[in-house]
Amino acid sequence: MDGRTRFLNAARREYVDTRPVWMMRQAGRFLPEYRAIREKTSFLELCANPELACEVSLQPVRRFDVDAAIIFSDILVPIAKMGQTLSFGAGHGPRLEPPIRSRDDFQKLRRIDPYTETPEVHQTVQLVRDAVGTEKAVIGFAGAPFTLLAYMVDGAGSRGFPETKRLLFSEPELAHEILALISDVIVDYLAMQIDAGADAVQLFDSWAGLLSPDDFDEFAGAYAASIMERLADRGTVRIYFPKSIGAYLERAQAVPCEVVGVDWAQDLARARALFEPDRALQGNLDPTALLGSREQLDIRIDKMLAATRGYAGHIVNLGHGIIPSTDPESALHFVRRVHELGKGCCDSDEE
Ligand code: CP3
Repeated sequence: MDGRTRFLNAARREYVDTRPVWMMRQAGRFLPEYRAIREKTSFLELCANPELACEVSLQPVRRFDVDAAIIFSDILVPIAKMGQTLSFGAGHGPRLEPPIRSRDDFQKLRRIDPYTETPEVHQTVQLVRDAVGTEKAVIGFAGAPFTLLAYMVDGAGSRGFPETKRLLFSEPELAHEILALISDVIVDYLAMQIDAGADAVQLFDSWAGLLSPDDFDEFAGAYAASIMERLADRGTVRIYFPKSIGAYLERAQAVPCEVVGVDWAQDLARARALFEPDRALQGNLDPTALLGSREQLDIRIDKMLAATRGYAGHIVNLGHGIIPSTDPESALHFVRRVHELGKGCCDSDEE
């Protein structure tokens, strides 16, 4: 079975010969071949260059034989076109300037046409699709509206995104208007990636866990759901990854999708009980387990696989992005072990 069929079948909870596997942030800094390219090119130049972005997307596929390629770009790429300036300084994360804090700021934002504003992303998806053919799945992605709002309002990554939460709790109507605009842009942006050949699209809600359960429903889940509903008739696999909402993971049931991403702080067996039989799961090895000893890593891989034994709907992944200091040999071991031990994973009877 080729990796693409394995990935798509697992997403639809159908028979797989072994567990499909890929790693969040697999295209990036932990790979020496990526760092070699980055020595000559800035991160944003790389995102804007389809040939190089395609090459970086393919690097982990070649090295590890993962079942899916994720497009190399960033969740902030489309957002920056709406009216803020995006930068990545050395040693710190992304910055969006000026921050959006008032109705006046909001009025300067515009709805973009992704075909004209981010044609490089369309082209990167096409190039990756052509390169992997039908052997591997191609994953497009975007940030979920709440997570993007957090960067737009605070203007940079921060501990608790206090300015964003101040906006939610002082001017909720304005927050809703911004979230609705972002949602419209993201629907068009993901539809463009699907048109270019993506088999699956992942919505990253990295900061969803900052919210209380009710605020999650109102400010995060509702907008993720609206995007997923509008993509339903495309027939593409939709993956929703709400990070750190373990205490109220069941709220993600309100977001229509084929696959729910599970981070490592959540009990995979509990996630299975919540989402089986109508959703597949993606996750959830602690990425820092790849920094430890082989013996300890294997214990954790095996436990993760045991939690979904007998259920076809498991796309194996890390519970969040791979750590830049990870030894690529550990990542290779992880992928190989999952493919090897995932055989027979669909058989429902226990041995
Ligand atoms: O392999 C892949 O996952 C594909 C490419 C990808 C990147 N960013 C490349 C990247 C994807 C899917 C993302 C998503 C992303 N970007 C998220 C959601 C996922 C998550 O981690 O929660 C978020 C919150 C961002 C915003 C972002 N971009 C941050 C906070 C940072 C700096 C911190 C960090 O981890 O490096 C980035 C930069 C970034 N995005 C890099 C890469 C490879 C590092 C750039 C470099 O220095 O070379």
